[in-house]
Amino acid sequence: MPPPQPPQTSELAELALALITSRFSVSPKRLAPPGPSALQLQCMVEAAGCAPDHELLRPWRLVRIAPAQRAALGDLFVRALLERDPAAPLPAQAQARDKAFRAPELLLAVARLEPVHANVPPPERYVALGAGLMNLLLAAHGQGFGAMLTSGLALRSAHFAQAFGLDRGEEAVCFVAIGTATEVRRRRRPSANELMTEWSPSP
Ligand SMILES: Cc1cc2nc3c(=O)[nH]c(=O)nc-3n(C[C@H](O)[C@H](O)[C@H](O)COP(=O)(O)O)c2cc1C
Repeated sequence: MPPPQPPQTSELAELALALITSRFSVSPKRLAPPGPSALQLQCMVEAAGCAPDHELLRPWRLVRIAPAQRAALGDLFVRALLERDPAAPLPAQAQARDKAFRAPELLLAVARLEPVHANVPPPERYVALGAGLMNLLLAAHGQGFGAMLTSGLALRSAHFAQAFGLDRGEEAVCFVAIGTATEVRRRRRPSANELMTEWSPSP
């Protein structure tokens, strides 16, 4: 048997476009077990690490919230809710807690804005994180998993940052939920015309 040949450029482009254009987000409440194996998750995280990174600062990191820690995350969500609304009724508290138990795999994406670097201001760091997360979502999709980025007001609470041990200059940006999609909901994609214009220099 001859050794396998790398795909031709056109095949690679077709594969990449098929992967990108067929991806869709799946809400955490529609993500059931099984989640990715440790090896599949490693593959996704390393795909994230292939994203552009100006000055190689690695301006982001991911924190895995293991199944055993979901109850503690639920407590955090309730605490954050009560900080915002001390009179939040019990059903609202239960709903906040439930969110911590959705999706078999859950990561927290953290942006690192310090130490400051003159060539890499905060917007570039968020772009780098977004690019990494996009790679991760695509790797998940390519492996047959559903995934979605979600955020929420709890992430902005000081107590949340403390509980996750965030350093100075670190920001919790969003969660990445991963699992097996129980339902597919595709959204319309914008055309190139809606996304790109030609520059004409102002006089
Ligand atoms: C950083 C970030 C946080 C997000 N947080 C939420 C969220 O909390 N709730 C939500 O419904 N969608 C959220 N979204 C949007 C979804 O992840 C998803 O992109 C959107 O529903 C479009 O679906 P699609 O990926 O299939 O196009 C967020 C997106 C980003 C980039």
